[in-house]
Amino acid sequence: MRGSEAVRPSSAGRDRRRDVIRPPIDHTISEMTLSEKIGQMTQVSNESITPAEVSDHAIGSVLSGGNGNPEPNTPEVWSDMVGSYAEAATRTRLGVPLLYGVDAVHGHSNVGGATVFPHNIGLGAAGDDELVLRIGEATAAEMLATGVGWAFAPTIAVPQDIRWGRTYEGYGRDPSLVSAMGAALITGLQRSEPGRPRALACAKHFVGDGATSWGTAPRFDFVDWWDGWGDGWQIDQGDARISEVELRSIHLRPYIAAIQAGVMTVMASYNSWNGAKLHAHRGLLTDVLKGELGFAGFVVSDWMGVDQIDPSYGTGVATAINAGIDMVMVPDEYRRFIAAMTEAVTTGLIPMSRIDDAVRRILRAKTAAGLFADGLERPPLEVIGSADHRALAAEAVRRSAVLLKNDGALPIAPVVDSLRIAGEAADDIGLQCGGWTVGWQGGTGRTTSGTTLLEGLQALGHADVAFEPAGRFVDAARADLGIVCIAERPYAEGPGDCAAPDASEADRKVFAKMRRDCEKLVLVIYSGRPLAVADLIEQADAVVAAWLPGSEAGALADVLTGRFPFEAHTSQPWPGSLEDLGQPEAPPLYPTGHGLHTAQVAMTAEQSPAGAARTAVER
Ligand code: BGC
Ligand code: BGC
Repeated sequence: MRGSEAVRPSSAGRDRRRDVIRPPIDHTISEMTLSEKIGQMTQVSNESITPAEVSDHAIGSVLSGGNGNPEPNTPEVWSDMVGSYAEAATRTRLGVPLLYGVDAVHGHSNVGGATVFPHNIGLGAAGDDELVLRIGEATAAEMLATGVGWAFAPTIAVPQDIRWGRTYEGYGRDPSLVSAMGAALITGLQRSEPGRPRALACAKHFVGDGATSWGTAPRFDFVDWWDGWGDGWQIDQGDARISEVELRSIHLRPYIAAIQAGVMTVMASYNSWNGAKLHAHRGLLTDVLKGELGFAGFVVSDWMGVDQIDPSYGTGVATAINAGIDMVMVPDEYRRFIAAMTEAVTTGLIPMSRIDDAVRRILRAKTAAGLFADGLERPPLEVIGSADHRALAAEAVRRSAVLLKNDGALPIAPVVDSLRIAGEAADDIGLQCGGWTVGWQGGTGRTTSGTTLLEGLQALGHADVAFEPAGRFVDAARADLGIVCIAERPYAEGPGDCAAPDASEADRKVFAKMRRDCEKLVLVIYSGRPLAVADLIEQADAVVAAWLPGSEAGALADVLTGRFPFEAHTSQPWPGSLEDLGQPEAPPLYPTGHGLHTAQVAMTAEQSPAGAARTAVER
């Protein structure tokens, strides 16, 4: 309908009716200038924009990347920082609210003192959708308390090669498992409570990120972030050389479940499919995701993902938007992005209908998040790292630990004459949390608050356990029982790509020493993927794969001592040797679904720290 007709009094009835049925979002869009629309499609890193600049450019979204923490990194300062950006958006002409995004991939894990849940590979081993749903709810509460309304989670990749540095971000090898866990996290994260804002989930990375082949990670002279990471980026961001049947039956399936669960956003993947970049893939982003699967939310690009499409940035931007990307995670040079968008629209490279569709999708999601609503109350900051969230994390730790092998060393008897613990990981929060914890690549030592395996055993009355990181105990006598905890160094994304996931030389030394010095030896492994350590498994009397348990690793003491049963199963096959990696035909040491069960030893709630914490909360 023409504008002149729309205002003619004679057709007022029809127009009035149109006004009534016209959703407020369409009304807002009709009022927006091109630059305001482009602003909504722009997501900038907090490291590259000030609140005043958010107002100036009517920016739609700000994110904290893996290294985007405020200083000091406390919940209060997070809340102030996010609040200052949100407030800046209200000072724009139309006051469209800002959406703040973070990688809350295992809890609100950038925030110092937040509850850090096990990484997804462990939750896949637990395989309980109801548990994952509760983790989603707790994560949303911790996010919303700081004003963050958007989690770039869950990762619903179906990792096919454990050499990939993001293996732990995926729930496992089986698309049905990934579908169920992903849908559960989305349901928990996005669950709305009356009077409360609602968090948005983001299913990522669409699609085929778990299918890329070793050695296919891209290299361009116009993007240089792989420089300085040594062997990093071999498989991450690479090419998925698979048929459409395989793409659909394995990697697309979790998206069907995610959309059924109502996921409001999807992140495009860095990877290519048979040489074609997903960020530029109209067939998959628009025809399949939005068309065939009926996804009504919005698609966000990945960090500088658009920069990889073409040496000409303007061409890359237009290609990405026309392919179906609705919001661009720029993340730094937002002025360049805005200029490229403005030019592409004014020269007709991007049709206005595409811009309006993108903005409509973004505003729809913001509406669903409650950002336009008045009088909603956030959860209090006290929910961050609260006793009940930590109790939930402890439950997840117990439920995700896989007992790979047990020749009678477990459970640990209530009283042992001499219990020795070795391996620095037994008392290191950073190692037990892995990547995406307080920093992008994670860290070591007391990076955040939590409990270690050592502390868990001490809290259960094994107060006189001897701990020596290197296993060099002064008492020369052979011990009845030893526990040695080995760990991968934390990593995230391409820097975690690893040709030979093995125990470190240092950990192997500690293991060898402990093997000589202890009658019975329990091996506990912290890792983002199965490690090719068949020889150590063979020598140990019992082996526990604890994955990356997060802040509450102390709860492992509950399963080691039999207060709770082992009941988890590997969600990835366990390799027999390093040579077998990348050889799908090689028989694994343990297939997917392996895990011994133990019976629970009777106990009262008071005997368990987690049980005690729960009781404290209920009171
Ligand atoms: C990762 C995404 C993440 C984003 C923001 C990218 O490098 O691939 O998973 O959400 O950065 O930190
Ligand atoms: C950011 C991450 C991002 C990565 C991509 C880092 O600097 O903090 O969020 O995923 O860069 O390379």
